[in-house]
Amino acid sequence: MTILILGSGGREHTFAWKLVQSPLCQKLFVAPGNSGTADIAENIDLSVTDFDAIKTLVLEKQIDMVVVGPEDPLVLGIHDFFLNDSDLKHVAVIGPQKAAAQLEGSKEFAKEFLFRHNIPTAAYQSFDASSLEAGYNFLETLSPPYVLKADGLAAGKGVLILNELDEAKAELKSMLVDAKFGAASTKVVVEEFLDGIELSCFVLTDGKHYQILPTAKDYKRIGEGDTGLNTGGMGAVSPVPFATESFLQKIEERVVKPTVAGLQKDGLDYKGFIFIGLIKVGDNPKVIEYNVRMGDPETEVVLPRLKNDLVEIFQAIANQKLDKIKIEIDERAATTVMLVSGGYPEAYEKGKEITGLLNLTDVLPFHAGAIINDGKVVTSGGRVMAITSFGDTYQEAIKKSYQNIEKLHFDKMYYRKDIGFDL
Ligand code: AMP
Ligand code: GLY
Repeated sequence: MTILILGSGGREHTFAWKLVQSPLCQKLFVAPGNSGTADIAENIDLSVTDFDAIKTLVLEKQIDMVVVGPEDPLVLGIHDFFLNDSDLKHVAVIGPQKAAAQLEGSKEFAKEFLFRHNIPTAAYQSFDASSLEAGYNFLETLSPPYVLKADGLAAGKGVLILNELDEAKAELKSMLVDAKFGAASTKVVVEEFLDGIELSCFVLTDGKHYQILPTAKDYKRIGEGDTGLNTGGMGAVSPVPFATESFLQKIEERVVKPTVAGLQKDGLDYKGFIFIGLIKVGDNPKVIEYNVRMGDPETEVVLPRLKNDLVEIFQAIANQKLDKIKIEIDERAATTVMLVSGGYPEAYEKGKEITGLLNLTDVLPFHAGAIINDGKVVTSGGRVMAITSFGDTYQEAIKKSYQNIEKLHFDKMYYRKDIGFDL
């Protein structure tokens, strides 16, 4: 088959790396892709939200399957766009339809879904500018810290956690009245703070059946010891050592099953990945968020551990035969460390040459914000490259990632030296 991946990050390079290993994948395109995907597939320069350009490409290259990496095209309804077009409706799209993508596109929608289906999550209320006073009153009933979430997509920046009541009230006003996050904060979810350790669970569903992929833990803050600004993710570990068999059982029974059943009950068509952000409170899982795609850099540790043919899995999703697949997982641990441009997640420079790639041994370098320019691999984004390793333990894997990073260089390269530190 001919397959198109939409996206340009480390996640999409990992998808490409995995898909080209399948004998079922005859030709792979990545749009827009990066220097890593350019090596193993054909990059096409287009925007992932330009549906008309995607249609032209799909028809011209006779693409059979589209794998959607990031959330934006899903929330904008790319799957519905394909289904509603007689020239495109035969093409398999991996990613949910627009209505279900609201699980990520609207925090309020996700909270209502969680409560409707009795899935454990933090208590909350949501507010808009007309109910600001009620928002203040609700904040007064909570104990600190206070959690405020912009309802819409805000590039991972829309969640504020504040220690002081006055500060929380001021931020609530700034989000609702002064549009701190633009249209994304027209509504704000205010919720109870949950104290615990986070992990993520990845589920594949065809709308009827589901399969669970390995857990992973991401490191979101820029600074060591989990300090400083939030980023897209600075590293990841899979499996998560504290996710014991009995805890995983609880996740499946209390979260995964009711989520998939809830989608069906609500008539929300879903063919793709569900990324469930969880927090372990005491010995129980609670849902922090849903994403309707794979995580980045979680993909860089989850997919390398998957032994199955990924094209077969995607075909099973498209044909609603996911129950026929037996997921096989590599027992080894995988870790990844993200190399970022100095300054990220604030302003940073681009176009820095990355050297040392040919000296790497026994690691998988997944390119993210990197492109080929004049025959050289140069930086093009904040998160530049994820260095993934395997080990019998995560400690062994992480050591390999760090040893190899020593061989890499670009001007102002930065990475966290403590991935896995808290496990
Ligand atoms: P979200 O975008 O909803 O995943 O939130 C971003 C981050 O904020 C999460 O990864 C958590 O670290 C934190 N967070 C979100 N909601 C809560 C909560 N109710 N209690 C504690 N931390 C939270
Ligand atoms: N690493 C977090 C995310 O992909 O949303």
